[in-house]
Amino acid sequence: MSCTFANHTFLVTGGMGFMGSAFIRHLLAQDNFRGKIINLDLLTYASHLGNLAAIEEDPRYFFVKGDVGNGSLLRKIQEMHPIDVIVHFAAETHVDRSIHTPRPFVETNTLGMTELLEFVRENPSIRLHHISTDEVYGSLGETGRFDETSPYRPNSPYSASKAAADHFVLAYGKTYDLQVTISHACNNYGPHQFPEKFIPLMTLNCMQKKLLPIYGNGKNQRDWLYVYDHCSAIETILEKGEMQEVYNIGSGHECTNLELLERIIEYVAAAQGESVSRYRELIAFVPDRPGHDFRYALATDKMESLGWKPTVSLSEGIKKTVEWYHTHEKWVKEAQSEQYHEWVSRQYPQAFAEQDA
Ligand SMILES: NC(=O)c1ccc[n+]([C@@H]2O[C@H](COP(=O)([O-])OP(=O)(O)OC[C@H]3O[C@@H](n4cnc5c(N)ncnc54)[C@H](O)[C@@H]3O)[C@@H](O)[C@H]2O)c1
Repeated sequence: MSCTFANHTFLVTGGMGFMGSAFIRHLLAQDNFRGKIINLDLLTYASHLGNLAAIEEDPRYFFVKGDVGNGSLLRKIQEMHPIDVIVHFAAETHVDRSIHTPRPFVETNTLGMTELLEFVRENPSIRLHHISTDEVYGSLGETGRFDETSPYRPNSPYSASKAAADHFVLAYGKTYDLQVTISHACNNYGPHQFPEKFIPLMTLNCMQKKLLPIYGNGKNQRDWLYVYDHCSAIETILEKGEMQEVYNIGSGHECTNLELLERIIEYVAAAQGESVSRYRELIAFVPDRPGHDFRYALATDKMESLGWKPTVSLSEGIKKTVEWYHTHEKWVKEAQSEQYHEWVSRQYPQAFAEQDA
């Protein structure tokens, strides 16, 4: 972290989830970071207290349970810890859930975003970076890449809710002259990702000798970014990005779901000392997801012009990720247990501003 932000107060929303917690660990790991981090998270099913257990005693870190769409809570936080920078990760994130029940996606991803923007409008010295997704561009064929000028063509309720949020960010930015930026990242992976997502799901199903469900023919293609490379990209945008601009964060590590599963199987088999054929037998092709995008890929020239490049290869990243799940049995057990989630909500029954309201 450069000295530009080393003494700043960050509000990180969704910091108890996969990427938000990685970003908080990434900031706090930097010795010259002398600022504060307020983590505002609603503790939905996708969060895990274990994601930040190692730093919860750090005097630079504060946790607030609450909804990003709660304006009075945001104002209360501002009174206690005047905010310099918001990095907005909080969202409902699972496409399958959005197809089943879209409403929470609209509420958190779109309406939550507008509440946060109203708060920034009241406090225009705050710099806001919104974490969005490549899925807002829709699907590609066999070739081509999306760049920052590509049209929006979201195909799922999840990507539509994120696309709507993006439009509000840029519209508020222009209308009220706010210090906002957006990034569209490709698929992230790494430690601490909730086991409903492809890589942890397949890794854990392999480890637990369960079926490995693959949508359609397994040929859908994604670009895979190691989560800490994403963190350094966000930091680069905060330091060097232009206000009211959009940045695509891709890795160039494209592969089909089936190719990715092959790699996962290879590493799990090595970790468990078994043959790969034992795991290949578990692959089960299941009916495709409705509206399933065939391929995403991003042109990253704009990020490269800021001096950023990913550093972790897909093989290295998958190997590290498989090892992490292999050695974090307690985290996995808790993530997969409903009792754990009930216990968490009993520990944090209400946000402090909600108690005051
Ligand atoms: N994971 C990916 O591959 C990927 C790729 C591109 C963009 N993104 C975006 O990155 C962000 C983070 O994704 P993730 O994979 O870490 O998600 P996640 O599902 O792991 O975590 C989301 C976190 O947000 C919290 N949250 C949900 N609703 C909230 C609300 N109303 N108020 C406050 N907190 C709330 C949850 O409790 C959870 O801790 C999301 O905005 C997502 O759209 C993710």
